[in-house]
Amino acid sequence: MAEKVVSLPAAARTLHALRDLGYDMNSAVADVVDNSISRGRAKNIRVYFGRDKQEKFHVWICDDGVGMSSDELKNAMQLGSSNNYVRGDLSKYGMGLKTASLSQASKLTVLSKRKRYHTAGYSWDMYHVNKVDRWEMFRLDKREISKTALSLVANSDAFGAAYFKKLFSGQSWTVVIWEDLKEFQSNHDSYESGVTANNYYYRELEKLSLYLRMVFGRFISGENSARKINLFLGNRKLTAFDPFCRNERHTLEIPLTKKHGNFLLDHRFEPIRIRRYVLPTNPARPGEFKFSKAEAWEEAKGNLSWNESQGFYVYRNNRLINWGGWYKTKTLDEHDKLARASIDLSDEHDSLFKLDVKKTKIQFPESLKNHLQDNVNKGFIAQAKTRYAGSERGIKKKIASVLRQNEKKVNSLASSLVRAGHISVVQNGEDRVIINNKNGKRISLDMTFRELEAGQKVISRSFGTDELFWKMVPSPDSKFQVLVNEDHPFYKIVYGNGKKDKKTMAIVDAFVFTMSFVELKCITTSNEFLFDQMREVASAVLRKIVKEKIL
Ligand SMILES: Nc1ncnc2c1ncn2[C@@H]1O[C@H](COP(=O)(O)OP(=O)(O)OP(=O)(O)O)[C@@H](O)[C@H]1O
Ligand SMILES: [Mg+2]
Repeated sequence: MAEKVVSLPAAARTLHALRDLGYDMNSAVADVVDNSISRGRAKNIRVYFGRDKQEKFHVWICDDGVGMSSDELKNAMQLGSSNNYVRGDLSKYGMGLKTASLSQASKLTVLSKRKRYHTAGYSWDMYHVNKVDRWEMFRLDKREISKTALSLVANSDAFGAAYFKKLFSGQSWTVVIWEDLKEFQSNHDSYESGVTANNYYYRELEKLSLYLRMVFGRFISGENSARKINLFLGNRKLTAFDPFCRNERHTLEIPLTKKHGNFLLDHRFEPIRIRRYVLPTNPARPGEFKFSKAEAWEEAKGNLSWNESQGFYVYRNNRLINWGGWYKTKTLDEHDKLARASIDLSDEHDSLFKLDVKKTKIQFPESLKNHLQDNVNKGFIAQAKTRYAGSERGIKKKIASVLRQNEKKVNSLASSLVRAGHISVVQNGEDRVIINNKNGKRISLDMTFRELEAGQKVISRSFGTDELFWKMVPSPDSKFQVLVNEDHPFYKIVYGNGKKDKKTMAIVDAFVFTMSFVELKCITTSNEFLFDQMREVASAVLRKIVKEKIL
């Protein structure tokens, strides 16, 4: 028989590969929060995403759960740590803590205390692993543990300091510390001005807040027998985000028969629960079944565009793992955007769904897809379409501006301007568009172009609020398109007069077209706030002109 030879993976390269599983900041934080919920059985979980006195960013994820003894923590810090999972566990691979953390941070430290045990501390440091190329982590001694704990207090505001004092005096707890957030820090530092850098940080913080509210919504509200938690981001207590907006008066549940709503994919396992909803319409549009207010409509799209947030919301043991889109049972359609359905899986189903390590992606088995196509999508999507049509009625009258009717000429003018300006607009990944112009580049997360009619340069739209009169939408196909806000008071003055004032319409269209091209040609990451300001000021002045009855 051949001789057995142990072959260990090379530490530095393997760890690097594992960091690149494709986490982003939000999914990485969520993976660590999973542990606090299901392994720690914590009641209170607090995420800090802030900076220390030297302006270096950090993430701390803290819970008052059962904690770990030194041996347990040592095991937990190992890749592929062993464990006895129970039914309903959010954990699965023994990887999340390490891979999620090290995807965002070069250093991961965990302090943990289990009832009747001393506080334990361990850390992984990528610099060290790179240097020695061995699977070596650090065990913190007593002095290092208290130094680390004290630094959390020292780098917190008064609320945070009080929180840590209370947490550390408790019987059991865990704190996960990420330091040296390479990618985030370098994105932040790439902004030239402190103000724009700060804006970037706050934008990311808001995205994280929304993500956590979505993913852990059921735990926050304690719905569907999920164990209720209090989840904080900094000092802010997060509320649950309900993708089905069930507290809106006009949200409709479209019931399924018992059999269709509880789909038996495999006789060995419990059925998969499916619920269907049709959401209310945009309150800025006509129709009977609207959202209660503009902000609720705005919020309901979650972290995607309204169009992309239609489709299935897949939960695994009450944690939202994937949302938006129809899992190849149909395509996204602007007319179906009010349709959403929940699909509830449990860990029993994992093997049938190919859950990835990040727990954000799964594949649907063919028989479920067929069931969705034949028994779920039908009827329900038709109702969503009818609602949508009701909200569109009367609004679709085409603006008869010469500029809008001269589609071909306008597009060819735009193309030649873009060419002469050496501007490129390309999509990068699923959720961003990059504009390159002579001044530099700008990353835009505005994916509205997917909802717009191709070929049309200037388009009227309801923005849901009356703040801005127009906005430029970068688009990989059309390079840019311009949206004019039907809700802005100036809109009525210009476009409200129907046929009579064709010339005024065309002039204003030409103006917003020009301003938008200027933006495309000149905008960069470091000056984008100037364009926002310019548009805000211009929109406010136009609003004033109407209000003071000057026009
Ligand atoms: N906050 C915590 N409280 C108590 N135990 C924890 C905590 N965080 C991690 N652990 C322990 O560490 C182990 C390893 O965590 P890790 O996230 O790496 O893997 P996992 O949760 O077991 O599986 P997955 O890879 O699916 O996340 C957990 O199984 C758990 O026993
Ligand atoms: Mg985990």
